[in-house]
Amino acid sequence: MVNFKFIFLKYIKKIFHVINKRIKFDDKGKGNSIEWGKNFYYDKIFVTFNGNNNHITIGNNCRFMQTNHLYVQGDGNIIEIGNNVSFDQNVGVLAADGTKVTIGDGCMFAEGVRIRTSDQHPIYDCDSNMVVNASKDVKIGNNVWLGAYVIINKGVTIKNDCVVGIGSIVTKDVDSNCIAVGIPARIIKNNIYWKNEE
Ligand SMILES: CC(C)(COP(=O)(O)OP(=O)(O)OC[C@H]1O[C@@H](n2cnc3c(N)ncnc32)[C@H](O)[C@@H]1OP(=O)(O)O)[C@@H](O)C(=O)NCCC(=O)NCCS
Repeated sequence: MVNFKFIFLKYIKKIFHVINKRIKFDDKGKGNSIEWGKNFYYDKIFVTFNGNNNHITIGNNCRFMQTNHLYVQGDGNIIEIGNNVSFDQNVGVLAADGTKVTIGDGCMFAEGVRIRTSDQHPIYDCDSNMVVNASKDVKIGNNVWLGAYVIINKGVTIKNDCVVGIGSIVTKDVDSNCIAVGIPARIIKNNIYWKNEE
């Protein structure tokens, strides 16, 4: 049976947040949705749906500081954020061309982090006319700390319990329990773990 009370409450909650200007939706399509779990703290999020049938989910106990951007372009993209995830200010997550960004539980992203599944403009091989820079999913495991101004490029998987150093650009997968730094990011330490002791 359809739970009208639940749907109504969800709608009211959404309107309240929009009126408060703490969340700004720019929905240019149809069939787009965003859901968040309990104890969601945030201060100004910009959510842009530039296409149709895109879905964003944010788990329980997440904390987003000022001016974060969740942006989808094209159809059928998914941004899935786990529980107990914190974003410092000005974090941007982009999913485009039918891709998925997965962010695991307990992740901590510092100021200015960027995650993107797409270059947003195709580049073609001159002979075959095939796209050479296809968009690809990004997967961040559980308990991953991305330092300030880190960029995660399309197609990257970072496994659980990793740290990525300030200003790094990650273009290749990172195995669990590693520190990766630099441009492009390379592993400098293995067999580490970290704790968010704030
Ligand atoms: C990644 C990090 C944790 C590594 O710290 P560490 O384990 O103490 O590493 P070290 O300082 O011993 O550096 C080890 C090597 O990596 C290099 N390195 C460290 N961080 C680097 C970075 N961000 N980019 C490029 N190289 C880096 C060092 O120059 C050193 O190189 P060397 O062995 O050739 O001398 C730390 O440098 C960092 O970037 N922290 C993130 C800080 C941040 O963004 N905080 C935001 C608050 S949430």
